Amino acid sequence: MDILISKEDRILTMQFNRPDKKNAITAAMYQAMADALRDADSDADIRVIMITGHLQIFTAGNDLDDFMKNPPQGMDSPVHQFLHQISHAGKPVVAAVSGAAVGIGTTLLLHCDLVYASETAKFMMPFSQLGLCPEAASSLLFPQLAGYQRAAEKLLLGEAFMADEAQQMGLVNKVLPVDQLLEVARAQAVKLVQLPASSMLATKRLMKAGQTAAIDARMQEEGKAFGAMLTAPAAKEAFAAFFQKRKPDFSRLD
Ligand code: COA
Repeated sequence: MDILISKEDRILTMQFNRPDKKNAITAAMYQAMADALRDADSDADIRVIMITGHLQIFTAGNDLDDFMKNPPQGMDSPVHQFLHQISHAGKPVVAAVSGAAVGIGTTLLLHCDLVYASETAKFMMPFSQLGLCPEAASSLLFPQLAGYQRAAEKLLLGEAFMADEAQQMGLVNKVLPVDQLLEVARAQAVKLVQLPASSMLATKRLMKAGQTAAIDARMQEEGKAFGAMLTAPAAKEAFAAFFQKRKPDFSRLD
């Protein structure tokens, strides 16, 4: 299974599990996560959701091959269902990140409530390097979080950043040694489980209330632009270059 889903101690855990492809996410994996999030929302036994990958790699983001062969069609596509579910999750979501978190691997964290990262965590949103544009409402949420210029460095240039910088920006709650990451993240999830569910739900709903409509609208707008760019020449060149293990050449494109 490329996504491992388990339920224990009232915590639903989703783990990226495709290490041979650096946990790159296919449409089937997005669908599995969207379905699990939907079920978690209506399952009274589940109080908290956890997202993790492997200690060597969180996720390399969208599977570029799957994206080229099977581009998302409309807002009902698996990737958009996943983004809708995670951005509307009523229950707290805790992420534990180690290794590279590329593209949606970083932007999904903007929708998590608590984010713990290992000292090896490396974040990257290389949308423009791929001929694409931001998704997951990151064009709205990331400048709000990090400040415009710092967000521009990460979103326009696609510059990678490490866990310490992510913590300074507020994307990460705490940076931990690799061997303590899962233990600490899980202990925090257990604390959330032990608090009254009604308070968890109300507090999260109130903290998110002012932004929900703006996030939905931005995701729609990003989704349209991203969908169109996915099949345009710049993305085709970037994707081909990745698989041919060479630098892309955008010099002849607009
Ligand atoms: N989509 C599809 N396949 C991917 C992938 C992706 N996003 N990321 C990695 N893979 C595959 C590679 O093609 C390679 O497959 P192969 O063994 O059949 O050749 C395998 O995973 C290992 O990847 P590799 O690049 O050799 O690993 P690395 O340790 O040198 O680098 C990354 C790891 C994550 C830094 C690098 O793989 C990467 O940059 N991936 C692309 C990230 C990306 O652009 N994501 C899209 C964001 S929208």
